[in-house]
Amino acid sequence: MTEYTQLINNLEALDLVKIKSYLPEFLDKNKKDSTILISALNELTDLELKDKMFRASENLIRTAAFPFRKTLEDFDFSFNDSIDKDYIMDLATLRFAEDNKNILFLGNPGVGKTHLAVALGIKATQCKYSVYFTTCHQLISKLNKAQKENRIDKQLQHFAQYKILIIDEIGYLPIDRQGANLFFQLISKRYGKKSTIITTNMPFGAWGDVFNDNILASAILDRLLDQAYVVKIVGESYRTKYLAVNKKSAG
Ligand SMILES: Nc1ncnc2c1ncn2[C@@H]1O[C@H](COP(=O)(O)OP(=O)(O)O)[C@@H](O)[C@H]1O
Ligand SMILES: [Mg+2]
Repeated sequence: MTEYTQLINNLEALDLVKIKSYLPEFLDKNKKDSTILISALNELTDLELKDKMFRASENLIRTAAFPFRKTLEDFDFSFNDSIDKDYIMDLATLRFAEDNKNILFLGNPGVGKTHLAVALGIKATQCKYSVYFTTCHQLISKLNKAQKENRIDKQLQHFAQYKILIIDEIGYLPIDRQGANLFFQLISKRYGKKSTIITTNMPFGAWGDVFNDNILASAILDRLLDQAYVVKIVGESYRTKYLAVNKKSAG
């Protein structure tokens, strides 16, 4: 790519139609300075383009409603042997989202499930994917409320639209029958079309209890697990480790 073709690309990306169409005439008029002008315009449009991308990503991050901002760079892979860094970095290529596959993080509290889910979500916003983070409890409450207020189709459509939906903490709180039904409808709507990232502390065999219905639970799991990436994390809680270290240094 020459500096000129790069400049044309930048003008297109910034939608600067008038400047782009006038550019050849402008450079013809200033032939002896053309290379320096191209270079200067390139530098300026590069700056604007980077800022535009940053603003777009910030907007997507705001919409995503992450509970915190933590990235894969913040994750200490040496802390837990059961987490394969290469496997997670492969997920971070976002191939899974291109292929509309799901990710399920399974493990005890404090092992980093939410951190990894959020980190992948942030990575996705940087690549312009729409992302939304919700706890399972919040999601079910919103679906139940929408059902009561006769606007469930719209609400399901809303949650179905995100390229990546992160549903955090399945299994921490019980789910009522209507909530379980609506959850199933949402997962069915997204199945094969969008990616869902789940975190749970409950082994899949116990999901019948979580959803208060064995058949519904296996129908949900069928769809979620079809060609999904399952990351089982075992080991001690990162939270507890730091509590222990802090206590030691305080005492
Ligand atoms: N391997 C790790 N490296 C860095 N921070 C970690 C790691 N595992 C967990 N944490 C941190 O510990 C806290 C608990 O992790 P979290 O992802 O919320 O756990 P979980 O969702 O599995 O209960 C968070 O502040 C998280 O950033
Ligand atoms: Mg969590």
